[in-house]
Amino acid sequence: MVVTGASSGIGLAGAVALARAGDDVVLLGRDPRRLADAVSRVREAGGRTPASYRADFAVLDEVRAAGAAITAGHERVDVLANNAGLLTSVRRPTADGHDPTVQVNHLGGFLLTHLLLDRLRAAARPAAPARIVTTSSLAEAWGTLDPDRPGRRQFSRWLAYGASKQANILMTVEAARRWTGLGIVATCFFPGLVRSGFGRQSPSFTVARLAPGLFRSSEQGADTLVWLATDPAALVPGGYFAGRTPFPATGRSTDPDRARRLWQSSLAAVGH
Ligand SMILES: NC(=O)c1ccc[n+]([C@@H]2O[C@H](COP(=O)([O-])OP(=O)(O)OC[C@H]3O[C@@H](n4cnc5c(N)ncnc54)[C@H](OP(=O)(O)O)[C@@H]3O)[C@@H](O)[C@H]2O)c1
Repeated sequence: MVVTGASSGIGLAGAVALARAGDDVVLLGRDPRRLADAVSRVREAGGRTPASYRADFAVLDEVRAAGAAITAGHERVDVLANNAGLLTSVRRPTADGHDPTVQVNHLGGFLLTHLLLDRLRAAARPAAPARIVTTSSLAEAWGTLDPDRPGRRQFSRWLAYGASKQANILMTVEAARRWTGLGIVATCFFPGLVRSGFGRQSPSFTVARLAPGLFRSSEQGADTLVWLATDPAALVPGGYFAGRTPFPATGRSTDPDRARRLWQSSLAAVGH
C-alpha cells in the first residue's frame, strides 16, 4: 500500500494503522526529517521497516523519479492512497507552470497514479480489486476549477484549495469510469476537520482549531482512509465518503463531463 503525505497527519496515522494491521506500507513524503520519523513510527507499529520515498509534488520531475523508484522496487501496488496535500500562501506558479496548490494537491497525485497504473493492474484480482483512495475535502464546495485549465492561476489560497479538492473528486469519478473494468476501484473521502500539520499558515484555520470539539485527531481523520483501503464494503467505484458513509458533493465536483475534460487537460498538464 503506497501512502502519499505519509510524513504527517492523516497519512501518517493511516500508514501506522495499516502497518499495525499487518499491511506492507510504502511511505511518500516531502520533508526528509519528518519522513525519517514516520519510518520509525511505522516500524514500531508493524514490526517491519517500510520502504520510503521522498518527492516534492511541486516539482513534477520529482514525482516522476519517485514513480520510477516505486515501480522498480515493487511488483504490485494493491492500494494507492493519494493523500498528500497542503494549503499554501505561495501564489507563484511552479516551475512546471501550474498553480502550486492545484499541482501539489491534484496534478502530482494524478501523475503518480498514472506512473503506478501498471503496478495497480498487477495487483488487481477479480475478488480483490486494487484501490485508489484520494483525500478530498468539504472545500470542494467553493472550488473554482476550470476543468480545461486546471493549473491556471487561482486568486486566493482558499479558492485554489477548493479547486484542488474539486479536482480530487472529479479524478475519482473519471478513474472509476475508466478503470473499474480493469479491476481498480477509485474512491475518495472527506476526513473531517483534523488537527494535523494542515493550515498552520492560515490565521482563520489556526483560530478555528481552538474551538472545542470542532477538530478531530489525525487517527480519527484517517479512519475512513483505512476503511476505504481495506474493507470489502468500501469497494464503491467513484464513491465519496465521510465517516465511512456516502457524503454529498456539489454537482461541479461530480459532473461526468467536467471529469472527462479535467482528465484530458490534466494529462496534458503533466505531459503524460
Ligand atoms: N486537516 C484537515 O482539516 C483536512 C481537512 C480536509 C482534507 N484534508 C486533506 O488531508 C490531506 C492530508 O493533510 P493533513 O491534514 O494530514 O495535513 P499535514 O499534517 O500537513 O500532512 C500533509 C502531508 O502532505 C505532504 N505534502 C505537503 N506538501 C507536499 C508537497 N509539496 N509534496 C509532497 N508532499 C507534500 C506533507 O509532507 P511533509 O510533511 O513531508 O512536508 C504531509 O505528509 C491533504 O490532502 C488535505 O488537503 C485535511
